[in-house]
Amino acid sequence: MKIKWITILLLILAIQTHGQGRRSDMDWWQDARFGMFIHWGVYSTEGRGEWIMYQEHIPFSEYKILAANFRPANYDPAGWVALAREAGMKYVILTTRHHDGYCLYDSKVSDFTSVKVGPGKDLVAEFALACHQAGMRMGFYYSLTDWHLPGVLPQGYSKGDQITGPLVKQAHEQVRELLTKYGKVDLLWFDGMTPGDTNVWRSGELIKMARSLQPGILINDRAGTGEDFVTPENVVTAHNKPWESCYTMNRTWGFAPFDQNYKPVAELIRLLTSCASQGGNFLLNVSPDGDGKIPDQQANSLKEIGKWMKVHGEAVYKATASPVVAPNLGFQCRVGDKVYLFVQRWPGSVLPFAWCGSTVKSARILTTGQKLQVDQNADRVWLRGLPVLPPDPYMNVVELTFDGPPQASNPAYR
Ligand code: GLC
Repeated sequence: MKIKWITILLLILAIQTHGQGRRSDMDWWQDARFGMFIHWGVYSTEGRGEWIMYQEHIPFSEYKILAANFRPANYDPAGWVALAREAGMKYVILTTRHHDGYCLYDSKVSDFTSVKVGPGKDLVAEFALACHQAGMRMGFYYSLTDWHLPGVLPQGYSKGDQITGPLVKQAHEQVRELLTKYGKVDLLWFDGMTPGDTNVWRSGELIKMARSLQPGILINDRAGTGEDFVTPENVVTAHNKPWESCYTMNRTWGFAPFDQNYKPVAELIRLLTSCASQGGNFLLNVSPDGDGKIPDQQANSLKEIGKWMKVHGEAVYKATASPVVAPNLGFQCRVGDKVYLFVQRWPGSVLPFAWCGSTVKSARILTTGQKLQVDQNADRVWLRGLPVLPPDPYMNVVELTFDGPPQASNPAYR
């Protein structure tokens, strides 16, 4: 009887420590809030996005010629990583293999790789080295589908075992390769699976292998098993589990010079702060050209965001949702005992907000450092002495310091 109780106790303890382990593995990512997505591959040489093989129904015989001509002379992953750092991003995720099946790395189980066709070298190895040398967190995007294998296009992989068998086997092997040959991998970003096909892909087994090869790795939800975080695409939607909104800067993931529908810097910062203020991450995509160069327009926007982050980053990293809100002005977040107001509707010299259940000790405009006069009457607060016009062209931030944990006087009010 005694032994039984001890066993149960140990079991509970083990479950708890396991849970804590997983939670602490996520800490760096929850603190980071901002990452870089990189869509790059054979398709980048054509400049019509990453889906051309499918959308233009390019036969493999023809696509292979594009791959042979993929010779990125200006491939400089250290430069990409430096740009990500300059923008204030804390992790980078590269498409190691997109839906076309072309591996940017050396794979024993495929002939369609950057070592065997095109560049003649392992591009992921150079990327990994650049990340490790810079101390940048590194993620691998891996699409499970593979349009280059016979029979996968146009009918799709789930239409028969002869197609599915080799495809799934290859994916398991290639994920193993990715997670054994490039040192520490912080994040695995699956894509390309038809929802509901977890049995076809033996996703559970795949995830188990990934976690055993890279303890502490974070895995997204797109292998169909849930895992560590969900991945809304080109939309900001808060979830009750960790989430990351991935976004294009224009409207295409892969290099597409015709697509000049670029979001202005102010909009990109609004999206980033919108994610952070709801406790989510923002993964912003760049699309290098076939030569490896990130288009100027994208690089310039990232540099502008970086300048803004230098001044306002403390309101983004580690941000979670705030109990004290000021929806009349924009949105807000909480970092420790501070609340940051992202003021999108600048109110002029007096900034009022309400339903504040804690005492505001001091306030300042983060953008300029200017201290503000604080008047508080019960749960109503007025900040005074603001410039009539907003000082920052992109997003103005006001920092509130409280005498303890910030609380709302009426949590129902948002
Ligand atoms: C979609 C697209 C793909 C892109 C991905 C990024 O799944 O098919 O091209 O890589 O979104 O989230």
